[in-house]
Amino acid sequence: MTLADDHTQENLRPTRGTTAADRAISSPRPTTDMAALFAQRETDRFAMHSRHLNEQMVRVLRTIGYDVGFCRGQGPYLYDRQGVRYLDLLSGFGVFALGRNHPTIRAALKSVLDSELPNLVQMDVSTLAGVLAERLVALVPYLDKVCFTNSGAEAVEAAIKFARAATGRPGIVSCDHAFHGLSYGALSLSDDESFRTGFEPLLPDCVRVPFNDLGALERALHGRTIAAFIVEPIQGKGVNLPAPDYLKGAAELCRRHGTLFIADEIQTGLGRTGRFLAVEHWNVEPDMVLIAKALSGGHVPVGAVLTRKQVFDKVFDRMERAVVHGSTFGKNDLAMAAGIATLDVLAADGLIDKAARAGERLLQAFAAMAERHELMHEVRGKGLMIGIEFGHPRSFKLKASWNLLEAASKGLFCQLITIPLFQEHKILTQVAGHASHTIKLLPSLTISDADCDWIVRAFDAVIAASHRVPGPVWSLGKTLMAHSMRSQSK
Ligand SMILES: Cc1ncc(COP(=O)(O)O)c(C=O)c1O
Repeated sequence: MTLADDHTQENLRPTRGTTAADRAISSPRPTTDMAALFAQRETDRFAMHSRHLNEQMVRVLRTIGYDVGFCRGQGPYLYDRQGVRYLDLLSGFGVFALGRNHPTIRAALKSVLDSELPNLVQMDVSTLAGVLAERLVALVPYLDKVCFTNSGAEAVEAAIKFARAATGRPGIVSCDHAFHGLSYGALSLSDDESFRTGFEPLLPDCVRVPFNDLGALERALHGRTIAAFIVEPIQGKGVNLPAPDYLKGAAELCRRHGTLFIADEIQTGLGRTGRFLAVEHWNVEPDMVLIAKALSGGHVPVGAVLTRKQVFDKVFDRMERAVVHGSTFGKNDLAMAAGIATLDVLAADGLIDKAARAGERLLQAFAAMAERHELMHEVRGKGLMIGIEFGHPRSFKLKASWNLLEAASKGLFCQLITIPLFQEHKILTQVAGHASHTIKLLPSLTISDADCDWIVRAFDAVIAASHRVPGPVWSLGKTLMAHSMRSQSK
């Protein structure tokens, strides 16, 4: 069908200058051709966002030069307006474990849309939710029950409620540098001032302990007022790995003190680290496991709390409490189909082993690179969750530039790596948290050997350039410092 046939041109026209009432009735036909709508309006995206959404995000993107206008996504790649291909190491904060627009996920979703299933009856139970729950607990056999949610943060909220209900205790312990999401309960367990400022007071009875410190955890649990200890097996902010005995020791302490052990695998789960769950690296069996992100197949938001029957039975303990926790869209057919198809693809394409092998290849290459570049302090990770930490140089010339940059804005150095990676090498990546010196790689699990070579070549070139003072990388540093000072003085 052409655009003219569909009369969608009329729907695509910007509606500025008309009244709200005009706008409400200005669509003569419903717009069904979203690709045409996208093509028509994509160059307005910054203007629309500045006007109606988050203007500050637009300012950030313009400042760092990320305004190439992505128009298509396929596998681990993004394509801009000019058709230039980018390798995406951010993967939508981890949702595109299978890559973008995986054909199996699309086919599963289309089959739901085409088949008129009795979705969200509410006074019935969902067949597809039953199937997905059955599949998940088969993969995590020490857990019995599943509660589906619409996001990661919602899974954290459910876990807090379940832990309190199951233990009758108020407290939740989380770790320094943790990130569990931005809704109120999840934010109360997250350690990042920049996210918390302006939103306090948060949930009471939340305690934080240093990651990898069993003594501090024991002291926190000692009073037996703590319902749960929640931990990311590998912390997303900073890509911090647990000491070899930490998670096992923490699980034992929890058991001894009647506290539930919750693994937040929202980022690390579903093969990201080279195992289905990251806790498997350390032979730990938590009382609750939280997953989300990749379970969506990159298409439909979904999360899940996997837990023990004893915990579930304390929450849903009688018929009057059958709906005591849940949400309207939880267990919807599209989300369940995305989850089922995601598990199928992980198995059929051998993506978990593939992630382990690609991760090993990258870690080895980065370790060799770190020998050559003094600003590269550490490379760490598991599977395809990798952090590259930069730090103080030894040589005098670099030290002066580094100190100047740090004084302007802590963590700014990483932008001197990520921006040239994007602009010159077409690699999209991220800094692992505010004021962080670590760059995080979280690519799709489907990346090829050629993609790994692309990553290594690009990082090596940019990091080598960052060791040349003066040079283009440090000229960029001066520009960013000027921006940073201007925005701090506002
Ligand atoms: C470990 C962890 N927990 C929870 C969340 C929150 O998930 P969502 O953004 O889906 O609410 C995130 C998101 O980045 C995460 O990485």
